[in-house]
Amino acid sequence: AGPDTLSPTGQPTGAPQAAVAQGGAYLTTAQGARLHDSDHSLKAGPRGPVLLQDHHLREKITHFDHERIPERVVHARGAAAHGTFQSYGTAGKVTKAAFLAKGAETPVFVRFSTVLGSRGSADTVRDTRGFATKFYTGEGTFDLVGNNIPVFFIQDAIKFPDVIHAGKPHPDREIPQAQSAHDTFWDFVSLHTEATHHTIWNMSDRAIPRSFRMMEGFGIHTFRLVNAKGATTLVKFHWKPKLGVHSLVWEEAQITSGTDPDFHRRDLADAIEAGAFPQWELGIQTFPDTPEQTFEGIDLLDPTKIVPEELAPVRAIGLMTLNANPANYFAETEQVAFHPGHLVPGIDVTDDPLLAGRLFSYLDTQISRLGGPNFAQIPVNRPHAPVNDMLRDGMHQSAVHTGVAPYRPNSLDGGCPFLAGTDTGAFIEVPLELPATRKVRDAPASFADHFTQPRLFWLSMTPVEREHIIAAYTFELSKCQQQAVKERTLAVLANIDPRLCAEVATGLGLPAPAATEPLVDTDPSPALSQLGRTWPVD
Ligand code: HEM
Repeated sequence: AGPDTLSPTGQPTGAPQAAVAQGGAYLTTAQGARLHDSDHSLKAGPRGPVLLQDHHLREKITHFDHERIPERVVHARGAAAHGTFQSYGTAGKVTKAAFLAKGAETPVFVRFSTVLGSRGSADTVRDTRGFATKFYTGEGTFDLVGNNIPVFFIQDAIKFPDVIHAGKPHPDREIPQAQSAHDTFWDFVSLHTEATHHTIWNMSDRAIPRSFRMMEGFGIHTFRLVNAKGATTLVKFHWKPKLGVHSLVWEEAQITSGTDPDFHRRDLADAIEAGAFPQWELGIQTFPDTPEQTFEGIDLLDPTKIVPEELAPVRAIGLMTLNANPANYFAETEQVAFHPGHLVPGIDVTDDPLLAGRLFSYLDTQISRLGGPNFAQIPVNRPHAPVNDMLRDGMHQSAVHTGVAPYRPNSLDGGCPFLAGTDTGAFIEVPLELPATRKVRDAPASFADHFTQPRLFWLSMTPVEREHIIAAYTFELSKCQQQAVKERTLAVLANIDPRLCAEVATGLGLPAPAATEPLVDTDPSPALSQLGRTWPVD
């Protein structure tokens, strides 16, 4: 069943959205007038000329001329599915979110994507994958807009246009498409060394997944949960695939890009059609909400850092099952609009400066991508909670709002019974105390540590995985034209690990530089070699 339809006042009626079939006994114009011929233009005689008065010809071609909308500025290529989320109730102590209460079942829509490629690019390229989930809860829509890699390239959203400009094809020839094998990407990540952690994950097998069904997902930022008593807990969200985490090897990924560029979207749709419904457990790592917002010395507001699962185990809080393919790619997969600011009571944001920029960016881009401010009325975006928002008019308004007083309080339309702060079901921002401070553009001192965690990741890899990482850096950097970019990247690798640097340098035929930062003595113990792979459930 699709999302609810809107009543004339903009309220969901509860009735499923009627699908518009392609069948039918006869064709009509968009106005419903029955046609007798849709294959021949109206002409002055069989050899023409064509007559301007042919309304059907003009309507058909005009509509076709406007079929395309802009692709997403990032994550343009994606595939999606409907499903359900069943809560285990194990998060009940830390959040009052009703969809996380024991036994709650919530419809979901999930879109997986690559980040850099355009809509028609290949699926199996080396890239981060998006993993965005829309929970249609009874308290409003909650979107968990994550990736399959637990950290991000940058720490502050003000650099997002820069990192994407560097990763997208060069502006002169618009090549290369959807690969990290170019000068601007390596130029950026070697000049902004906060990107080192995300980059080494990208050079690992995590960036060439075998299937969307076999990927982890991460909310990345730290969020703040609020329970029924108002107590808060900091939290990181994780999706763990029931099928386990599996990757392609590079040669498979390369060949598949050519032989079946639709490999991942076909795999997802075929599995669901065959009844092999993919499943993920949603899990949380929880941390005390202290004024420092750190855990075991790790800054929880820094999106380039993980908290190893040995230090904070991931606890399962629910199970997601994807069980239905979209009926129409454009209507659902293309028009779905996720937003990290779509929150429900019990889940709030933190002051992560990357998240702050995201809270602005998604709504802004969707106003242009989806043609105005009313895209929440598109069936796939409609909340499954009653809507009474006083937002009016605008492009593509399809609700027929009644009454005369679209503001509150008002004394003409019956006003609105709820007053701010008195409705216990309302989303209320956590009333955090803010320290006395001054306006600055500085980052916290801990944000300057760019190499401890990339080194931790490297040391946690098996020998085969390390060979793959060395080969990936060597291949991608060998495509760079600029010697200076290669040399600067080798200097970054030296600060991760001397052997990694030396092997890549040999592959490129360049000398290996020495480290400029002290190499953190991270213990490559068996426990840490499980980094990102343990799954304790209590
Ligand atoms: C789209 C994830 C950072 C701006 C997306 C999508 C995902 C995602 C999964 C695709 C959603 C879909 O399938 O429709 C992330 C993650 C981030 C991050 C995990 C960091 C932790 C940012 C930042 C900005 C940004 C910092 C801007 C300041 C956008 C925009 C879109 C997008 C403009 C296109 C949205 C649309 O057209 O509907 N992001 N993103 N993202 N992201 Fe991000």
